[in-house]
Amino acid sequence: METNSLLFLRAVQLAVIAAYELVGKNDKNMLDQKAVDIINKLLTNNDVNAKIAIGEGELDAAPMLYQGQTFSHQQAITFDIAVDPIEGTAPASKNEPGSISCIAIAKIDTMLQIPEMYMEKLFLSEDLGATIDFSQPIEKILLTLLNIKQNLSCIILNKPRHQAIIKTMQALGIHVELINGGDVLGAIDVVLKKADFLYGIGGAPEGVLMGALAIATKYKMFARLIAIAYEQVWPDESETKDRIKIEQQALARKKISYDTIFSERDLVADEEAMFFAASLMGGTVLKPLQIIDHEYVVHSFIGYNNIYHQIISKYPITNNVQDLLNKYSK
Ligand code: FBP
Repeated sequence: METNSLLFLRAVQLAVIAAYELVGKNDKNMLDQKAVDIINKLLTNNDVNAKIAIGEGELDAAPMLYQGQTFSHQQAITFDIAVDPIEGTAPASKNEPGSISCIAIAKIDTMLQIPEMYMEKLFLSEDLGATIDFSQPIEKILLTLLNIKQNLSCIILNKPRHQAIIKTMQALGIHVELINGGDVLGAIDVVLKKADFLYGIGGAPEGVLMGALAIATKYKMFARLIAIAYEQVWPDESETKDRIKIEQQALARKKISYDTIFSERDLVADEEAMFFAASLMGGTVLKPLQIIDHEYVVHSFIGYNNIYHQIISKYPITNNVQDLLNKYSK
């Protein structure tokens, strides 16, 4: 797998370069599509012997980077990919911080393939996570954490569903860092020591990426799938009514329940998992993509084998990102 690492680093970097022209243009779907397209082409052109375990949805809903898609016609498939071409499409389309492109890779059939649904996640260092019992209420978990460390800080998505727990944290003296989107980026910021932990309900696919990040950097994660009242969150979406049913069927097939507690190793059962991210409109630690002196300056992150790397890469500016794609295709 290690031999592929430069290719995956390039994939996330080209994805943010491709999406950059759409930053602030209020079109999150088009912005996402730019990134999807380039990652799909780069992996296909390089005959990557992998299958998508976590991607853009099932084949009928997503023509590229869909769950089960493979890229090589010549080689045996030996590893799984989890990809979020742009995590935080909404903030990026509004020119706000909180978006990256990220990919994780692990041995084949080691990533938990779950439907697009919500997941409660706690991401923290091994020291803080050592005594956590995630079956306890979060309020009790916070007290356990405060017993280990007094000046705690937490990154959490600024969503209505979190307002009560945000108030509880503040009342306990925990410093709260609110983010508008991108909780995988929030977890990277925990690894980069911006906060002690990340907590909250976000996407389950992002949870698998976070699990790979935890393994790759020797962090800990706890998670649980959440049945959300979709009719309140998305009252106007046509699929809202059927969504819970679809979710429940998918979980029954996999013999998973909403009570199942996952560790990072349940999400990605491979100690050799690798994690790659490149910043589009990053948080405060991973700087946003910039154009300086006719070059794209891209800030990236790699986690592997308990080590993380922060990388600054410079690509020549181009009017056509296909030129970069061609350059890095076989
Ligand atoms: P995108 O769909 O724009 O990639 O959003 C990603 C994200 O912000 C995740 O980081 C987070 O887990 C999830 O969405 C939260 O979902 P919601 O915005 O529905 O609360």
